[in-house]
Amino acid sequence: MNRKVTVIGSGNVGATAARGIAMKELADVVLLDILEGIPQGKGLDMLEANPVEGSDACVLGTNDYADTANSDIVVITAGLARKPGMSRDDLLLKNKNIIKDVTENVVKHSPNCILIPVTNPLDAMCQVVYRVSGFPRERVVGMAGILDSARMRAFIAMELGVSVENTHAFVLGGHGDTMVPLPRYSTVAGIPITELMDTATIEAVVKRTAGGGGEIVKLLGSGSAYYAPGSAVVEMVEAILKDKKKILPCATFLQGEYGIEGLFVGVPVKLGARGVEEIIQIELTADEQAALQKSADAVKELVDIIKV
Ligand code: NAI
Ligand code: 2OP
Repeated sequence: MNRKVTVIGSGNVGATAARGIAMKELADVVLLDILEGIPQGKGLDMLEANPVEGSDACVLGTNDYADTANSDIVVITAGLARKPGMSRDDLLLKNKNIIKDVTENVVKHSPNCILIPVTNPLDAMCQVVYRVSGFPRERVVGMAGILDSARMRAFIAMELGVSVENTHAFVLGGHGDTMVPLPRYSTVAGIPITELMDTATIEAVVKRTAGGGGEIVKLLGSGSAYYAPGSAVVEMVEAILKDKKKILPCATFLQGEYGIEGLFVGVPVKLGARGVEEIIQIELTADEQAALQKSADAVKELVDIIKV
């Protein structure tokens, strides 16, 4: 194939995303990890699934950054996952060092790629990738909002007994407990959920969405979610490679938009071949703006700790 996507980190999220990209035949995939044998084994296993899936995407597992050269997109999932009782923020310092090292290696071999950070705490790690890569903001776009919105969509569909395909959900802010689900902009077949659900049900959906990551961590007992995160990564990769210009909630570097300066925060963006092609600004009520600012402040606290 003539497109190449590298996934750094062959753990749960990385492998799930890599498999999705290969199965959809979006690009050749390189799967890289520091662990020896794991990316090679998983990569070969995915390659051997291709005849059944009808995909001619090449999948290569490796420990060598030279194999990632000239990637169109690099997804960064390397790092540590949350364990029970561990907040996303506990991961901050350990993952910062991993992400710095990974980014340096990636940009050396793929100076023109689009970078999709996934590692937590997501928004702060995006800032590390952005600073270390020196890329323009259009080419560093973090995955979290699609996952958070997907969770909200699933909960809305469950509550109303409707198809998930009819649902749209709007979640702004950092990928943490302060994220801002917006019921007013969340719809079923174009109808705002505020017209379809009572206040208590909406509040329950909002609360479950904000705690969605923790809910899975608690159930799994070890590690965190990866099927929905993997699907969210694949949607971003597809939007970029097919230049779909899809409006998706993603972590992007704000420079005054939504009144936020110099921070990665989740907002709706137009995702296409050039990465973030536009930041969509919507009208917020005073309460919504205050909640978004609170979420941005939480991101800033982390960014200040790691000084990026
Ligand atoms: P995992 O533990 O299954 O996989 C992480 C992989 O990274 C491991 O295979 C590990 O060997 C590898 N790794 C560690 N240091 C590395 C380095 N320097 N270079 C290359 N590879 C390295 O974890 P999982 O479940 O895949 O999660 C990965 C990250 O994604 C975590 O930080 C997690 O919190 C985050 N995450 C973020 C989400 C989001 O919405 N942004 C959603 C789900 C997970
Ligand atoms: C999640 O939301 C752990 O951030 C990850 O599932």
